[in-house]
Amino acid sequence: MKLKQKSEEDVSTKEEPTSKFNVDLSENMINLLIKQISHELHNYTLYKTFANYFGSEGLNLLKEYYLGRADEELLHHNWIVDYLDERGVFFKYPAVPEVNEEFTEYIDVFELTVAVEEETTKMIYEIVDLANKDRDYLALSWLMQNGNGAKLVQEQTEELAISNLALSIASQDGSWLEKERAILKAHKS
Ligand SMILES: [Fe+2]
Repeated sequence: MKLKQKSEEDVSTKEEPTSKFNVDLSENMINLLIKQISHELHNYTLYKTFANYFGSEGLNLLKEYYLGRADEELLHHNWIVDYLDERGVFFKYPAVPEVNEEFTEYIDVFELTVAVEEETTKMIYEIVDLANKDRDYLALSWLMQNGNGAKLVQEQTEELAISNLALSIASQDGSWLEKERAILKAHKS
């Protein structure tokens, strides 16, 4: 059966639908997710840099703490890559900004970590906002997962909590040997 073609008149008199459901990831969403991959990889290299810094200072528990944090960033990046695969999106890896954050004192590292996690949270909120705007409920349910597996939003609660706790421990009086023990213990608990 041949479908009736829309006439010029049909098109001009019909109103545009007010909303569309997206079954495919939108171009904007793909771009934001690729940007997030780059950001998570930057966080990975930043935390590896911090691990190296503390290792070079002989604070091996802080090195271990930041190596653990770096592994988490790599995992976040994997979640997004896997999701793009699942949604049938082919992409090429983006550039990762070099580490050019400035730090001279130990405490600077902990402050930078909080700032980075706050920025990361805002970027993830932007992705959630776009999923809402796109009416992409597949993306939304992926973003809002809990428990095991990818859980980008929920994960930020933990990332912010441990970063703030580490900063408050680092800001206290006492030796760095004591503080590094407390920070690593907090991260592992
Ligand atoms: Fe992350």
